[in-house]
Amino acid sequence: MMKRALLTGVGGYLPERVVSNAELSASLDTSDEWIRERTGIAQRHVAGAHETAAFMATAAARAALRMAGAAAGDVDAIILATSTPDQAFPATALRVQAMLGVTRGFGFDLSAACCGFIYALSVADGMIRVGQAEGVLVIGSEVYSRILDWQDRGTCVLFGDGAGAVFLQAAGPAVEPAARGVLSTHLHAQGTLGDILYVDGAVGQRDRPGTLVMNGREVFRHAVTRLAEAVDEALVANGLQRRDVDWLVPHQANLRIIDAMGRKLGLPAERVVVTVDRHANTSAASVPLALAEAVADGRIRRGDLVLMEALGGGLTWGSALVRM
Ligand code: UT7
Repeated sequence: MMKRALLTGVGGYLPERVVSNAELSASLDTSDEWIRERTGIAQRHVAGAHETAAFMATAAARAALRMAGAAAGDVDAIILATSTPDQAFPATALRVQAMLGVTRGFGFDLSAACCGFIYALSVADGMIRVGQAEGVLVIGSEVYSRILDWQDRGTCVLFGDGAGAVFLQAAGPAVEPAARGVLSTHLHAQGTLGDILYVDGAVGQRDRPGTLVMNGREVFRHAVTRLAEAVDEALVANGLQRRDVDWLVPHQANLRIIDAMGRKLGLPAERVVVTVDRHANTSAASVPLALAEAVADGRIRRGDLVLMEALGGGLTWGSALVRM
């Protein structure tokens, strides 16, 4: 009988430095009004030199383990979603493993851009279901401030840095829909759309570390369509109705996309977790950071049905349905 992955802890980390729209508009041809109206973003956190993907991931992971009442010895695997790793290798996940004092098991990084956390959660869930691991840290950690072209107003105002983590633990076999844990994940990708959102370089390309390039309008168009499909797919697969969903925890790219998904589910605004106003788009960290905030402030409680969705460069997109 397959095991169920329970989400027993969640935590986040945001860099100390906050950069407002006003601060950006002092050196860039943009305005607080434009950024707020088109995206809902008012500010973002920007990492200092010491706040690397590994540093922030470790802080978020510690918070998740603390909430779960778990210790380093309970961690079998660390799956870290990032597009901005500290180094090409070792995997940032293994830097985190070392900093946490985990001395066994395994870990690796996963690259799926803004959908990275959903992908990592899906891989972890599969490993727990088949008995390959019992305790898995799933982390999204990003320092997009290091890959942004700070002269490009079309992209640099949209992103922020941060990390979010969840701890998944194996529970006994449970097949009834009301049971807690990860109920389903659905992953999608379309590589032919790789050129509408990408980084034009990498450590594998000599002298080209790369900066982020995006055709915002095209990504927006695909996001609204694909995410709406993903929401339906998750509900149909679980035999659930829209009204069964207690919380939408969406990827935080643009408030207009988030609102569209909330309306699609017929959820009142207060049932949709929004952090984009304060965090901007933290890519793979955005969903676990939003989840961490809503759990910490008592909105999301044990037994609640939470639908997460994200879309990012690749294109990659998908959903995760979790009963807390
Ligand atoms: O996380 C991965 C997924 N990413 C997303 O989902 C992002 C999806 N896309 C978006 O959120 C939106 O497309 C953006 C927020 C990126 C852009 O909003 P938009 O309403 O699609 O604006 P636009 O790109 O069509 O640009 C409208 C105008 C342009 O000027 P013209 O050509 O109409 O004169 C831009 O040059 O706004 C201008 N513009 C700006 N103006 C002031 C673009 N960026 C800025 C800026 N400040 N920062």
